[in-house]
Amino acid sequence: MKRIAVIGAQWGDEGKGKVVDFLAENKDIVVRYSGGPNAGHTVVIDGKKYVLHLIPSGILRKGTLCIMGNGMVIDPDALLKEMEDLRSLGVHVDGDNLKISESAHVIMPYHKKLDFLQEKVKGGGKIGTTLKGVGPCYSDKTARLGIRIGDLLDPAILRDKLRLSVAIKNVLIKEFFEEEGFDVNELYETALRWGETLKGYIANTTMMLNKAVRDDKSILYEGAQGTMLDVDHGTYPFVTSSNPTIGGIYTGCGVGFNAVDAVIGVVKAYTTRVGGGAFPTEQDNEIGLYMREKGGEYGATTGRPRRCGWLDLVALRYASMINGMTHIAITKLDVLDGLERIKVCVAYEIDGDVTDEFPLSYSRFERAKPIYREFEGWDRPVKGIKDRRELPVNAMKYLEYIAESTGVKLFMVSTGPSREETIFFD
Ligand code: GDP
Ligand code: IMO
Ligand code: MG
Repeated sequence: MKRIAVIGAQWGDEGKGKVVDFLAENKDIVVRYSGGPNAGHTVVIDGKKYVLHLIPSGILRKGTLCIMGNGMVIDPDALLKEMEDLRSLGVHVDGDNLKISESAHVIMPYHKKLDFLQEKVKGGGKIGTTLKGVGPCYSDKTARLGIRIGDLLDPAILRDKLRLSVAIKNVLIKEFFEEEGFDVNELYETALRWGETLKGYIANTTMMLNKAVRDDKSILYEGAQGTMLDVDHGTYPFVTSSNPTIGGIYTGCGVGFNAVDAVIGVVKAYTTRVGGGAFPTEQDNEIGLYMREKGGEYGATTGRPRRCGWLDLVALRYASMINGMTHIAITKLDVLDGLERIKVCVAYEIDGDVTDEFPLSYSRFERAKPIYREFEGWDRPVKGIKDRRELPVNAMKYLEYIAESTGVKLFMVSTGPSREETIFFD
């Protein structure tokens, strides 16, 4: 297990940051392959809290090289602020331990504005995006109108690309949304300054990663978002605009099939979701409130309260299949401490039919009613337990049931936010 993918198995915020930090010890490289500043990965070390948005969580480990892969979308202002915030917490960040792919895309100010305007015009049907400009930036990437990080170092190309892109955006912003447009010269000056500041970080990370694979280095691929937010495999249109799933690693890093040895799905012991979209096991009641308060379920990026509900095994089995998961890491088990009964959704009833297959049609998914299996809660808290032999019998039964019905080996269990509140199953 030298090269490990850590992928969110639900709708994001599964605790990937904690799992990545735990596993990053002694890793040569930690690489983010998709998403952008929409991510919020929380790591707690010695009571100190770090929230990573763009920079891989491996930055907190000395001697680890962190890479922001070509599949990412990067807001340079947000990145520079994140670097400063980390430095003020005593974390070392410079061009030696952080590299940015020259092919990653730049989130421009007009992307953020369009994210906001598009959400506004959707009204009640809005996605509930993080408003970080992620969707419009990926749209430009596939429309071949994007500005890449490497372009920030090439004034002539940058000017040409910006001229075209800004001209098109201004028509949309001014005529359709009836808002103020952008000044291309101002954006050009800003973008040149970004290039100047970031040039020591920009590199051909595709070559670096492939060399690392050839040299048998250890690599950790840090997923952002989650499987159910994947633009192809998630609950479209209530998704993000990238591929957080396994395929995103290959396209978002430029590595081949031999570059991943194990795929760890990170699963919260219950489910949360931020933003819009159907959520069959949602508990919009006192159980959901209990989970939110006990689990601190407020967005690490936007501060929004997260919607909470029971674990959904139909979605989890699907996530396991899509990613070819070899292992699961179950987080936040301690949040279920104190509950008398715990429910798990084992199948859906859709239009009178019972199915354990995840529906690809969003309208069918919206009509899915959960069918639950109930477990008894445990008699004493699991909070802070580090040794599997200390787990209450009922907690072990719950964990084993999840692993068995997913058909994937249980790899680790998290019983608190701190590094050491972790049980490792070998
Ligand atoms: P990510 O986006 O997948 O990295 O997850 P977030 O950081 O957005 O959200 C997970 C939250 O749960 C963070 O506040 C973590 O500090 C916290 N957390 C992680 N693991 C555990 C755990 O086992 N128990 C508890 N109580 N909190 C945890
Ligand atoms: P991490 O990496 C949870 C959600 C947003 C919204 C949808 C689209 O911390 O798990 P976007 O801004 O990407 O266009 O928003 O996706 N979303 C996340 N939800 N965790 C995340 O990241 C998310 N990143 C995006 O709330 O519903
Ligand atoms: Mg998060």
